[in-house]
Formats: sequence, structure tokens, C-alpha cells
Amino acid sequence: MTKILHLICSPRGQASESYKLSEKILGYLLDSQPTATVIVRSIGGAMANLDESYATALGGTERSFAELFAEGSMSRSEELIQELESADCVVIATPMHNFTVPVALKAWIDHVVRVRRTFNVTAQGKLGALRDRPVFVAVASGGRFSGERTYQPDFLTPYLRAILGTIGLHDLTFFSVEGSALGSDAVAAARTKADQEMQQFFLGFARNSAPVFQQAV
Ligand SMILES: Cc1cc2nc3c(=O)[nH]c(=O)nc-3n(C[C@H](O)[C@H](O)[C@H](O)COP(=O)(O)O)c2cc1C
Repeated sequence: MTKILHLICSPRGQASESYKLSEKILGYLLDSQPTATVIVRSIGGAMANLDESYATALGGTERSFAELFAEGSMSRSEELIQELESADCVVIATPMHNFTVPVALKAWIDHVVRVRRTFNVTAQGKLGALRDRPVFVAVASGGRFSGERTYQPDFLTPYLRAILGTIGLHDLTFFSVEGSALGSDAVAAARTKADQEMQQFFLGFARNSAPVFQQAV
């Protein structure tokens, strides 16, 4: 059974703009794979920060990973990594907070990007240990961070490319509704632009008659 992991990162949950955008992406994915299972992980209001034993384990310790494994964040980390590993495709719904990802998404990243588990340090640098799979990111922002009328830096999209690439996820596609604070006309225009971009993207897949994502082997 094909699995899609839907990660919802806004503190506004299902009322959020990023969630609504991500639901449209899911709609296209489910059109292509109607029997897919969607695993929903809503972390916007509930993602715990890392605890001391996890930070100790990752920072280097004489206590073994196994010894620390049963404790707090380490067991949460394993749960989230296994959930990610089991997914054939990931849809992340996230707002931009202070030019980058919100704290909940950063906390999730801190749990799933784990040395000697999801990446390894080699002479060539950090090498991802996870199988690559499509990751769709639905971003909502109060102002614009792309295009000609941009007035703020974007540390969100390059950061996600870099950090998810570190664990082996390189196939990222971003859609965004930018300018949610710029009035209803601007929001309507931003939603229309995102709709058009999604339609073009997913039609492109249909034209190539390739599935949007492959089932894990
Ligand atoms: C703490 C915080 C920081 C924010 N920082 C930015 C920012 O740096 N750039 C921006 O364009 N909007 C920023 N916003 C606005 C949100 O990105 C915007 O309201 C967005 O539409 C929220 O998406 P959501 O409905 O999916 O949560 C910020 C909002 C909050 C609460």
C-alpha cells in the first residue's frame, strides 16, 4: 500500500493557509494513487523539544545509543524516523516564521536528522541514509519571499533543501501562497497563482504518463 506522510506544521492547524494549500497537493496525489494511505502528523501545537539525553547522545557520550534509546526524545526520534521511512511521498504544510521554518518543523527536523541513523559523516561529507522520495512543501507567508516584489530573505526553501538533502531527500517541490497579510485581493491572486502552478505541475506528470510517486520496493 502506498503511503503519504502529511506533516502539518502551523500552530493554526487545519485553519491554516499552508494546510489548505497542502490539501490541494494531496488531492492531486490521491487522483494519481487513489488507494494511497495518508498518515497525518499534526505538529503545529504539539511537537516536543529535544531533551537532555538526546542532545547528550548526539553530542557524543560514553553511554550507548541503546541505553539512551528507551528515553524521551530518542524514542520519539525513532518513531518519527520510522514513520518517515515508511512513507513513499511526503507533503509538508508550513508557514514561514521569521524568514524560515516554524519551531515545530525545526523540532521535527531535529528528531529525524540523526547522525548514524538517517545520515553518516564520511570523508566526502554528510551522506544521507534514507531512500529518496518526492517531498511536496506547501508554504504560506504573510509577505512575499519570491518573485520581483520580494522584500525579505528566504531561508526556508534553501534550508529545507539542504537539511532534507542531508538525509537523502533531494526530490523537493515547493508551492506557496505568499502575501497572506497583504489584503484579500493579494491573497486571492496568490491562491490563483499557486493553483495554476500545481495544475501545470501535476498535468505535466499525467502527460508523461509517469506516476507522481513510486511505491516502495
Ligand atoms: C511568529 C511569526 C513569524 C512570522 N514571520 C514571517 C516572516 O518572516 N515572513 C512572512 O512573510 N510572514 C511571516 N509571518 C506570517 C505568516 O507566515 C503568515 O501569517 C502565514 O500566512 C501563516 O500561515 P499559516 O496560516 O499556514 O499558519 C509570521 C507569523 C508568525 C506567527
